Amino acid sequence: MDYNDLLKKAKEVSKNAYAPFSNFFVGSCVLGASGETYVGCNFENASYGLSICAERNAIGSAIANGEKSIIAVAIYASTMEDALPCGACRQVLLEFQGDKEIEVITQVSNSYKVRKLNNLLPEGFKL
Ligand code: THU
Repeated sequence: MDYNDLLKKAKEVSKNAYAPFSNFFVGSCVLGASGETYVGCNFENASYGLSICAERNAIGSAIANGEKSIIAVAIYASTMEDALPCGACRQVLLEFQGDKEIEVITQVSNSYKVRKLNNLLPEGFKL
């Protein structure tokens, strides 16, 4: 899967984000070990703390569809370049890291940037 395509899917689903409180519209696309992709957007709540990030929404979809591990995740935010996953989402991603380090793809101008999850969350917690 080309990471440009992964990012394109993240951008497309960001249009469905429900973010009336922050106006920060985020889309994410996860590449599962099977080669399938899964999208998610953020959805907020009047009880602010219940809001769910795009990344966790996409991860949940991947898991619900039978994926056991994640290869890469792309993030697109409509009003921010190089939008990185929050700390909570980094921890949730780590839970589904398989033999290969998860790659985190962000949008930078007309292209993308690739980072390793292990660099974004060094010495993360795992059981
Ligand atoms: N948000 C995401 O969806 N992903 C991130 O990585 C950072 C934050 C959402 C949560 C909330 O709906 C809005 O962006 C503002 O924090």
